[in-house]
Amino acid sequence: MATTTSESPEQTRQIAARFAAHLPPACVVAVSGELGAGKTHFIQGAARALGFADTVTSPTFTLVHEYPTPQGPIFHVDLYRIASPIEAASLGLDETFAAGRATFIEWPERLGPDLPDDALRVHIRIAGDTRREIDLPTPLARP
Ligand SMILES: Nc1ncnc2c1ncn2[C@@H]1O[C@H](COP(=O)(O)OP(=O)(O)OP(=O)(O)O)[C@@H](O)[C@H]1O
Ligand SMILES: [Mg+2]
Repeated sequence: MATTTSESPEQTRQIAARFAAHLPPACVVAVSGELGAGKTHFIQGAARALGFADTVTSPTFTLVHEYPTPQGPIFHVDLYRIASPIEAASLGLDETFAAGRATFIEWPERLGPDLPDDALRVHIRIAGDTRREIDLPTPLARP
């Protein structure tokens, strides 16, 4: 695990883009952090780097958004409104994980033990108005 500091939303997207360039196929990326930490901005940057040119927004009304890319779909899952791991288990996310070029999950702790063991874990901490500390898995943290 390595910690990187971001000073702006744009820098968070750039850090995510560098991270995404090293992602293995069909990986699951758990993006945790409190409300407004920058999880959605991070996923925007990653999705762009993986080839999705359109706009990424937080999936508020649907739990799962799908973004097509030349290398297969990226899935963006937001479990904020999920109350329990039991409810999460009913979502059939295993198929999503298998089908995705990559699947990014906001509020991954809501999945409980159903978060895959090999999920890559990104954590964002608010460290000031525009400062964020981003923990990335070490093998993927290098530029
Ligand atoms: N360095 C930074 N990186 C990312 N976002 C930042 C940064 N500095 C300020 N912000 C602001 O923090 C907010 C982050 O919003 P974002 O929707 O990405 O958070 P989130 O973690 O997805 O929140 P939620 O839990 O509500 O889904 C935005 O308003 C953004 O402008
Ligand atoms: Mg969000």
